[in-house]
Amino acid sequence: MRNILSIFHQCFRNWVTLLGAILTTVSGLGLIISTLLEMMSARSNPYLSGVLIVSLPLSFLLGLALIPIGLYPQRRRIRSLPDRGVGGDRRSRALILFIGLLTVINVLLLSIGGHKAVTYMDSPRFCGTSCHTQMQPEWTAYQRSAHSQVACVECHIGPGTPAFVEAKLQGLSQLFGTLTGKYQRPVSPAKVHGQRTGAACEACHNRSIFVGDRVRMYPHYKLDKENSPAFNVMLIHVGGRSSDPTDAPGGEPDKYSGIHSHLAKNRIIRYEYLDAQRTRIGKITVLQDGKLKAEYRRPNADPKEKPLGEQVMECIDCHNRPAHRFDGTARQAVERAIFEGRLDAKQPYLAKVVTEVLGQAEVARDGAEAYFKKAIPAAYASMAERPSAEAMDQAIRSVTQIYLRNVFPKMKVRFDTYPDLAGHHAEAGDAHVGCLRCHDGQHEAKLPNGKSKTMDKSCDLCHDTLATEKPPEKFEDTLKQVLGLPLD
Ligand code: HEC
Ligand code: HEC
Ligand code: HEC
Ligand code: HEC
Ligand code: HEC
Repeated sequence: MRNILSIFHQCFRNWVTLLGAILTTVSGLGLIISTLLEMMSARSNPYLSGVLIVSLPLSFLLGLALIPIGLYPQRRRIRSLPDRGVGGDRRSRALILFIGLLTVINVLLLSIGGHKAVTYMDSPRFCGTSCHTQMQPEWTAYQRSAHSQVACVECHIGPGTPAFVEAKLQGLSQLFGTLTGKYQRPVSPAKVHGQRTGAACEACHNRSIFVGDRVRMYPHYKLDKENSPAFNVMLIHVGGRSSDPTDAPGGEPDKYSGIHSHLAKNRIIRYEYLDAQRTRIGKITVLQDGKLKAEYRRPNADPKEKPLGEQVMECIDCHNRPAHRFDGTARQAVERAIFEGRLDAKQPYLAKVVTEVLGQAEVARDGAEAYFKKAIPAAYASMAERPSAEAMDQAIRSVTQIYLRNVFPKMKVRFDTYPDLAGHHAEAGDAHVGCLRCHDGQHEAKLPNGKSKTMDKSCDLCHDTLATEKPPEKFEDTLKQVLGLPLD
């Protein structure tokens, strides 16, 4: 007992060790208490527990490091004393034992704390909210996506230790960016931990699954007084690997068809990109069974323009917004809201008025509601027919919601900042975006027989049209049945 007391005495004669011991004890106790509290409560405050979970193990480690640093000069002093005898030996044995015991406890505590910190730093809540401003657009869209239960790290950190380390190092530089305010606005997709997220998809989605054709209805509304519905319905040839043996004459294995055949197992498509958004495409190379099948180039390409890089095509070259999909344009957002009943199509000129108001709005997010409270009634002021007071309130609420889901002025993100590439959106301005960046009817390949072939852009390559610009009541009965609409 006296030995231990004298060790304490020795330790705490210098302030570095004392500080270390206090830090270790307080954060160690904190770790134990916070773990107990968390086990007892169902919900915790994300910000508070976030700070605690990351800072407690850190200060615990710091404290641990300070203790020997403080002891080091002292140890040399003790050694140099002439009267080191039997008592000294026993004392140092007790010291070693004591430190050994402490180390076991510390390693235990630290592994609990460290594990909790690393797990927490990988959680969507941490990724989505700790750099609040930067991640707000993605976090907002993510929470409404089909992947809202998939952790950010599942898509954003590739498999294996090097990817993990790279992501953590990049996290540090991002932390630095956050502290100094020097970060990209908007965040470029290519900058997400420097990784392409494509490989991650196949942990859950098998590329060999046959999807076949998918019927999709696209609700549109004219900008007239009645907000007349003008829906399109397309049969999208998603395809995939055929599971039908008659589709594989002569026993040809792995026969793929349709849109998903870009990623057939025996096929590789590579493309050169001319801009960081990868929407301007240079040479496209198709390899079949490891052999060159075709090389498409643009005949009118500027020979001086050098590609920024080359990329093997993967899921995210089409599905680039699986977890962060924005509405595309103000018009699309309004159409979606009318279709879902969040805006009332019975109100005169509603689609026209709110599309215009939304398109012009450039206000801070926290001023949005006040802004629309004035702007929507003002836009109706000169018109003969107006919505009822109740309908006006609903319109203001829904338009504010649309704005908050799509516009993030601090990050310079608006409806069309991150276009969805799994289609084509001529109305968003650039007709070549999406599939048409390759399927442009211009990229041309020379075939071995001397003929040439251009990248197909015929409409029926990708889909059949089942209805164009029709109100759903006017669809044919079979189509109504397929879509589950009432037959009159
Ligand atoms: C299902 C997979 C998936 C999940 C889950 C996911 N992301 Fe993404 N994320 C992507 C893809 C794909 C891109 C676009 C990559 C590209 O275009 O090259 C992207 C892009 C981003 C970008 C770049 C800016 C942009 O909008 O393109 C940020 C920032 C981002 N994600 C943050 C997050 C955060 C934070 C979470 C979790 C809250 C998350 N992501 C969850 C797939 C995912
Ligand atoms: C951890 C598992 C998981 C990962 C990883 C994952 N997904 Fe999904 N994905 C799902 C589930 C589950 C659904 C179905 C959700 C539903 O039906 O509501 C889904 C739905 C989808 C859909 C259809 C719905 C939509 O939003 O259009 C697409 C497309 C899709 N995923 C693409 C991707 C892509 C691309 C990636 C990689 C960047 C990816 N997924 C990564 C689990 C995953
Ligand atoms: C060439 C572009 C392209 C590529 C590459 C691609 N997809 Fe798709 N995928 C599509 C299109 C287009 C649809 C149909 C979208 C719709 O229905 O609106 C689709 C549909 C899907 C769906 C929904 C299927 C359903 O049941 O409705 C999933 C899931 C999916 N893709 C996953 C993947 C995965 C995983 C990969 C990579 C292995 C991939 N896709 C590669 C274009 C592509
Ligand atoms: C990076 C360039 C690129 C992009 C982007 C792209 N494609 Fe393709 N696509 C190709 C190439 C290359 C081929 C094969 C041409 C050949 O075989 O010579 C092809 C073939 C196809 C085929 C015919 C498949 C078959 O049955 O053989 C369809 C359908 C198709 N693409 C649809 C789409 C759709 C839909 C999108 C957008 C969601 C899209 N493509 C985006 C490059 C692209
Ligand atoms: C390379 C493939 C491809 C080609 C070529 C193509 N499309 Fe599409 N188109 C798509 C895909 C994929 C979608 C589905 C997009 C989605 O689900 O978001 C689509 C959707 C559409 C839609 C519904 C979108 C809406 O908002 O109403 C229309 C209409 C359409 N295409 C018209 C055409 C016409 C007309 C042509 C010929 C001039 C054409 N497309 C050529 C791939 C293609």
